[in-house]
Amino acid sequence: MDPINLYDFESRAKSTVPHNAWSYISGGSQDGLALKRNRSMLESILLRPRFLRDVRKRNLSTTILGEAIRFPVMIAPASSQTLVHPDGEIATTKAAGTAGTIMSLSTSSTKSIEEVANVASGPLWFQLFHCGREQTEDLVRRAEDSGYKAICLTVDTPIPSHKEVDVRNNWKLPPETYRGNFSHKIATNGPSRLDPGIFEGHGKPPTIPLTFEQLPWLKSLTRLPLVIKGIRTAEDAALCVKYDIDGIVVSNHGGRQIDCTLSSIETLPEVVAAVNGKAEIYFDSGIRRGSDVIKALALGARGVLIGRPIFWGLAVNGQAGVEKVLDILYRELDLVLAYCGFTSVDQIDDAILHLPVEMEYSRIPYVEEIRGLADLHSKGLISRNEFDSKRESLLGIEKQ
Ligand SMILES: Cc1cc2nc3c(=O)[nH]c(=O)nc-3n(C[C@H](O)[C@H](O)[C@H](O)COP(=O)(O)O)c2cc1C
Repeated sequence: MDPINLYDFESRAKSTVPHNAWSYISGGSQDGLALKRNRSMLESILLRPRFLRDVRKRNLSTTILGEAIRFPVMIAPASSQTLVHPDGEIATTKAAGTAGTIMSLSTSSTKSIEEVANVASGPLWFQLFHCGREQTEDLVRRAEDSGYKAICLTVDTPIPSHKEVDVRNNWKLPPETYRGNFSHKIATNGPSRLDPGIFEGHGKPPTIPLTFEQLPWLKSLTRLPLVIKGIRTAEDAALCVKYDIDGIVVSNHGGRQIDCTLSSIETLPEVVAAVNGKAEIYFDSGIRRGSDVIKALALGARGVLIGRPIFWGLAVNGQAGVEKVLDILYRELDLVLAYCGFTSVDQIDDAILHLPVEMEYSRIPYVEEIRGLADLHSKGLISRNEFDSKRESLLGIEKQ
């Protein structure tokens, strides 16, 4: 029988992908606590369905940074997609185009910025790992020249992380799977200044940390909107607002970097409260069902991204597999939207959620105060400026 949900795709993919590559894709860091918690906390949020409404006609479309998409599920940036299918990111990009959604291309992709742009029929984001000033500038310029719609800077990998399972398997990513943007061909044929030697001593593109103070420099390189991926706290979210970024992906990298953190969904409400409408918020880490999508949207995300399920779809059936994964999520979201009494994704609010006690309040007192302030602002009882300055003083931001 064909897969009917994403877990069917997962088990089928597992039987075809070689063991060590599978462990690399599916694994989490250290004890995998954040990885497991991503799912268990999403599962512990329950829905309060609403009935006796006319929900026969439904519209799942939305906009992301002004780009129309058919439904609020996007492709997360993920490296090395030819590990599981020879077409890699080319297949994923075509599938995203068919599904009417955004494809994000990783800095560490097998296929290059330009190859992907050539086959795209929908909007593209370029995910950036900072590679030093010259090389970052080069990547950003190439993405802009190739028609990408946003730069998505991943910030939650300040130094390289290793997964113990990969150490045990003595697993090294095959270099050809993550150097698409740094190939010798690109470096010598075009105007690019990219240095293929950048990988030396790193194995992957280097994780050179940026600081908040360097964001104005990054923004000055491009007219494209800047999205920051990997934010998990009200403090960092407020600083993102201060630096005028356009979007935030609340993400714990699918539990692949630092372990022993909250799940990604637990951190979404504090980021939403701190940002309070000044930037678009997206969510990833653990999305496997349409009901997960509606939960994230109800907590304030404008859209979600999927990571591992891309690999499952690719491994099972290349482009058609990713299309099917996206189609399943579309249908599941459509169904749960109707059962919650909505006809459009704009109507979703947190009244449809029954939250577990862990998420009912934040243990950090000032996060509760910020939520209270956001509530006052939404009721028109305090101005935006009052909200911003009270939040900054609660978080000590003005001193940073
Ligand atoms: C194999 C693999 C490679 C990834 N590579 C990148 C990457 O290059 N850049 C990045 O920002 N995130 C990367 N991610 C993280 C995803 O963008 C995303 O945050 C995560 O997969 C979401 O969780 P999920 O897999 O549970 O959907 C990768 C994830 C996987 C599984």
